[in-house]
Amino acid sequence: MQNPTLETILRRRSIRKYTDQTVEPEKLDLLLQAAMAAPSAMNCKPWEFVVVTDPDELALFRSRLIFGNRNAPAAIVVCGNPRLSTNPAARLFWVEDCSAATENILIAAVGLGLGTVWVGIHPVAEFVRIVREIACLPKHVIPLGLIYVGYPAEEKPARTQYDEKRVHMDTYNRKKAS
Ligand SMILES: Cc1cc2nc3c(=O)[nH]c(=O)nc-3n(C[C@H](O)[C@H](O)[C@H](O)COP(=O)(O)O)c2cc1C
Repeated sequence: MQNPTLETILRRRSIRKYTDQTVEPEKLDLLLQAAMAAPSAMNCKPWEFVVVTDPDELALFRSRLIFGNRNAPAAIVVCGNPRLSTNPAARLFWVEDCSAATENILIAAVGLGLGTVWVGIHPVAEFVRIVREIACLPKHVIPLGLIYVGYPAEEKPARTQYDEKRVHMDTYNRKKAS
């Protein structure tokens, strides 16, 4: 593959082991630049981000989120804030908007030599409660997910998961000619 954008997308993998190296604040800022470049319904941008580098807070996430015990030196909690959506129809799309921002962070991290893993929080009520409590989120702010960020201590191959069976041409019952 000869396309740098596609290569970066294929190189993004979930990294669950990290070195102790601190993530430079400038790189965390670049990740947030990428996040907020994402598309959003009616451009309402209903997202907010909590950047966590406090080791005690990270330790709380690790111990209390059953699928989130990763040793990264930083995390970004991606939150939806419906009050930021001025349009009631656009408000329905906060999950999509925040997911687009999340994926932008994951892809941008690859380009900066960082690893990430997306830990799903919403819509599991217990996970939402835990993250709200640890990050002191107000009741109307919903954590969609937590992204661990750090320098990778494991390597995973780039790959696509392309599957022709998932592709339909023009109508659902028409297969792609192979
Ligand atoms: C909505 C969502 C929630 C996820 N939650 C977790 C999680 O709680 N813990 C975790 O280690 N990985 C989590 N992942 C990462 C997936 O397990 C991972 O993307 C998948 O296994 C494919 O591997 P890859 O990311 O290396 O391509 C989540 C991914 C998504 C999109």
